[in-house]
Amino acid sequence: MTSLLVTNIGELTTNVAADGDPCGTLRDAAVLVEDGRIAWVGPAASAPALPGAERTPGRRGVGRFPTPWRPEVLSRDGDGDRGGDVEVVDAGGGAVVPGFVDSHTHLVFGGDRAEEFAARMAGTPYAAGGIRTTVAATRAASDDELRSRLARLVAELHGQGTTTFEIKTGYGLTVRDEERIARLAAEVTPEVTFLGAHVVPAEHDRDAYVDLVCGEMLDACAPHCRWVDVFCETGAFTPDESRRILAAGAARGLLPRVHGNQLGPGEGVRVAVDAGAASVDHCTYLSDEDVAALAASDTVATLLPGVEFSTRHPYPDARRLIDAGATVALASDCNPGSSFTSSMPLMIALAVREMRMTPAEAVWAATAGGARALRRDDVGAIAPGMRGDLVLLDAPSRTHLAYRPGVPLVSAVFKDGVRAQ
Ligand code: NIG
Ligand code: FE
Repeated sequence: MTSLLVTNIGELTTNVAADGDPCGTLRDAAVLVEDGRIAWVGPAASAPALPGAERTPGRRGVGRFPTPWRPEVLSRDGDGDRGGDVEVVDAGGGAVVPGFVDSHTHLVFGGDRAEEFAARMAGTPYAAGGIRTTVAATRAASDDELRSRLARLVAELHGQGTTTFEIKTGYGLTVRDEERIARLAAEVTPEVTFLGAHVVPAEHDRDAYVDLVCGEMLDACAPHCRWVDVFCETGAFTPDESRRILAAGAARGLLPRVHGNQLGPGEGVRVAVDAGAASVDHCTYLSDEDVAALAASDTVATLLPGVEFSTRHPYPDARRLIDAGATVALASDCNPGSSFTSSMPLMIALAVREMRMTPAEAVWAATAGGARALRRDDVGAIAPGMRGDLVLLDAPSRTHLAYRPGVPLVSAVFKDGVRAQ
C-alpha cells in the first residue's frame, strides 16, 4: 500500500457542497490518499497517524522559508509501518484545491503562430482559417517530434496544477494524420476527442471532406477516442454538417461535444443541446434562447477566456449563464492559434476579472466544472473514493489564484497520490 498524507492545510477546497458552499471548504484539514484514491478527509487534528505526521505543523514559518505556505515533506518512508511507501507532507497552513481539470485542449501540433499573434495584436482580426497553418506544420512533423513536443506541454500542464486533461485531434485533417494525432494523444490521456471537423482543408471539396470525416477518418480515429467534436461556426462547419458529424461519431460509440458560438452568434449551442453533448465550448456570443437552452440541459457551457485574451474578442458573460442556472466550466483551449497557454490559474484570474465570476465559482469551474464537462465522477473533488489529485498552493486561500495573477502559486501537485511536480 502506498500512502500520502497532506496535513496542516489552512483552507481545503473539497467541492463537496455543504451549508450553501459549493466548494465545501474545510479549515485546518488533512487528506489521506491510499493507493491513488482518497481514503480520508477531515480535521488535521484527527488525521490518521502515519510516520512523520506527529511532527509540529507550521513551525517552518520561523526563518526556514521566506513564506509560510510552502509545503515540506515531513517524512518519506519506503518501508513504512503500514508495509509500503508513506509520504507525509505539511502544507504549511496553505490552501489545497483539487487538481485542475482542463476539458479542452489541442496539445498535439507542429510549429507555432507567434507571428499571427503579433499581427493580431496590431489589428489583424482572428479567423478560423489560421488553423491551416498549423495543419501544414503538423503534417510535416514526425511522430517523435510530435511526441516530444506533447511531453513538454504535458509537463507544463502538470507544473501548473492540471491533473486531468482532454486533447483534440484536428491539426492533421487526413486519415493518416488524424489517426496519428489521436494515437499520440491516447498515450497521455484517456480523454481524446476526434476533431476531424476542425476546418475543411485547403485541398478538399467540402462535401467530400465531410464524407471522409464521417467515414474512413472516423473509422481510423475512433479506437483511440472517447469523444467527437465539431467546430460549428461560420468559416468552419454548418449546423447541418455538424449534426451529421456528431451522429456519425455517436454511431461509432463516441460521445458528442461542440465548439460553438465562438466568433459570432450561431446555432452551435442548439446543435450541442439537441445532441445531448457533454459540453459546448467557447459560448462567447449567446442569445437569451441559448442561455435558457443550456440552463435546461445537462450540457456544460465551457468558457475559454484564453481565447478572448489572445484574440481581443469580448469575454463570455459567465454571470449570465450561472444566474440562469447553467453549469459553467473553465478550460485553457491550449492551442497555437487562438490561446497558446496551458495555465488554469490564468483562466481563473481572467474569469474573475473579466467574466464576473467569484473566485470560488472560478475555482469550482476549473475543477468540478471540468469534470462535469468530461462526464467524470472520479476527479474534480476531494472526497473518499476520488482520485488523489491535489494541488498545494503557496498561498493561504484559493482566492489568491485570481488575486495574484501571473504568480506561480502552485507549489506541489499530486496525481493519483503521486507527486507530478
Ligand atoms: O478552439 N475554434 C477552433 N479551434 C481552436 C482554434 C484553433 C486555431 O486557431 O488553431 C479553438 O479556438
Ligand atoms: Fe478549441
